[in-house]
Amino acid sequence: MSLLVKNGTIVTADAQFTADILCRDGVISEIGPDLSGPVSCEIIDASGKLVFPGFIDPHVHIYLPFMGTFSKDDYATGSKAALMGGTTTLIEMCCPSRADDPREAIRLWKSKAAGISSCDYTFHMGVTRFDDGTAAALKAIVAEEGITSFKVFLAYKGAFGIEDTELYQTLSLAKELGVVVTAHCENADLVSETQKKLVAEGKVGPEWHEPSRPVTVEAEGCHHLMTFAELTGAEVYVVHTSCVPAVEAITSARKRGVKAWIETVAPYLALDSSYAELPDFEGAKYVMSPPIRAKEHGDFLWECLANGTVDTVGTDHAPFDFATQKHMGHPESSKCVDASLKPTGTAGNFTLIPNGIPSVEERVKLLFTEGVCRGRIDLQTLVRCASTQAAKIFGFYPRKGTIAVGSDADIVIWDPKWIGKISATTHSMATDYSTFEGREVQGRAEFVTVRGKVMVRNGEWIGETGWGNFLHREPKS
Ligand code: URP
Ligand code: ZN
Ligand code: ZN
Repeated sequence: MSLLVKNGTIVTADAQFTADILCRDGVISEIGPDLSGPVSCEIIDASGKLVFPGFIDPHVHIYLPFMGTFSKDDYATGSKAALMGGTTTLIEMCCPSRADDPREAIRLWKSKAAGISSCDYTFHMGVTRFDDGTAAALKAIVAEEGITSFKVFLAYKGAFGIEDTELYQTLSLAKELGVVVTAHCENADLVSETQKKLVAEGKVGPEWHEPSRPVTVEAEGCHHLMTFAELTGAEVYVVHTSCVPAVEAITSARKRGVKAWIETVAPYLALDSSYAELPDFEGAKYVMSPPIRAKEHGDFLWECLANGTVDTVGTDHAPFDFATQKHMGHPESSKCVDASLKPTGTAGNFTLIPNGIPSVEERVKLLFTEGVCRGRIDLQTLVRCASTQAAKIFGFYPRKGTIAVGSDADIVIWDPKWIGKISATTHSMATDYSTFEGREVQGRAEFVTVRGKVMVRNGEWIGETGWGNFLHREPKS
C-alpha cells in the first residue's frame, strides 16, 4: 500500500516547507520535491493545503463508568469522531473503581478498543487504590501491557479519588519505573464541603457548579501534587488545567525543579463560565470538572500556549447525553431522569449532573479557528500542543507526532479556507447535543490517514472500523 501526497505545505512543530511525502507500508519513506511512487500508488494533490502530522489527543474518556451512568461513545463512534476532526491517536483514561483489580481493568479497557477502534490508541492506567498488591500489579502493567503513564484523581473522593498516602506510594513507584503520572488536581474535601453549603442554601442549578469548585480549589490541588512530586522526584502531568492560579502553582514548582507538564483542554479555550448560566437547564451541557472559567482565564491559557508554558491541548472528551444523562441533576423532580429515561422521583441538583463534555471531534478546528485564525498561536504551536508534545511526553515520538522519514504515515491534509458550522446534526460523536452548536469554524481535515490508510476523504468518512492499533510503549530509562 503506497500513498503520495504532493505539493502540500508541511507543518511540523519546528518547521514549515513545501514538499511531497511518499508513504509505503504504513510509514513515511521519503520527503522531498518532485517525488514519484510506484504505479499502484494513490496520489493526493495537497496544493494550497496544510499537511500536519496526525493529531494526538492525550486525554479522552470513551468507556467511562461515572456518576451513576456510562459515557455515551464507544470506540466505533469515538474514534470515527476523532478522525473526522484530524485526531489519529487517542490516549484514554483507564478508570477502574477502587474495588477493581488493576490488571483486569486494563484488559477490560483494551477489550473495548481492540478490533473496534479506527484510530491508534493507548491508555493512562488509573490508580484508584494503592494497597499491598498494587505495586506488583502496576509493575506488571508497565512490563507486560505496554503502559507507561498512570492517572490519579485528587478529586472524586469515594469514586476514583485516592488518599495522600496512596498518592505518595503511586508517585514513588512511578519514579522507580520511569513512568509519568497524570493527575486531576482539585481538593476533594473543599469541593464536597462547598457543594454541601451551596445545596443547603438552595443553590442547585448548573450555574453553581463553577462556584462549588473555584479556582483556589484547583490551585490547592496543583500545589498539593507539586509537593508530592518534589518529595518523590516523580514526573507529573497536570490534566485539564483551567485557570491562572493553577498554572501559577505549577510554574512555581517548576522553578523549584519539579518536572511537571501542563495540559489544558479545548473547552477552556473556546468557552467561558457564562455558558453554565444559560437558562432552561442548558447550562448542564457545559458542566465539567474543573469547571469552565471566566473569560480572563481562557485568555491567559492562550497566552501560555503561545509562550510555551502550557505544553498540550487535549479535550477531556467525556460524552453524556443532555436529554437523559445531564438531566439526572435537574432540580425539578419531574425532569430529573436517569439514563434509561425513568423518572427518579427525586429532585436533583448540580452535583448530580454527570461531569463531562463531548469535544474529541472539534479540538483541532477550534484551535485553528480561535487560535491560528485569530493570531493567538502560530501553526508550529498548533502542531506542538496538539500533537508533537504529547508524543514526546508519553513515549511514542518520533513514531507519532511529526512528519519525518520513518514515522507512521498519520497525516492530516487540512483545508485552511473551509468554513462551516458545528452541529450535533452532522457530528460523529454519539451524544444528542454539541457543546459548540452553531459555532462558525474555519478549516477542516480534508484527508486523514492512519498508517497510510485513508480514513477521511474530502471531509467524508471512508474509514475502516478496527483499523486502529494499540500503541505499546516502553518506560523511560
Ligand atoms: O468533567 C470531567 N472532566 N469529566 C471526566 C472525568 C475527569 O475528571 O476527567
Ligand atoms: Zn479529570
Ligand atoms: Zn478526564
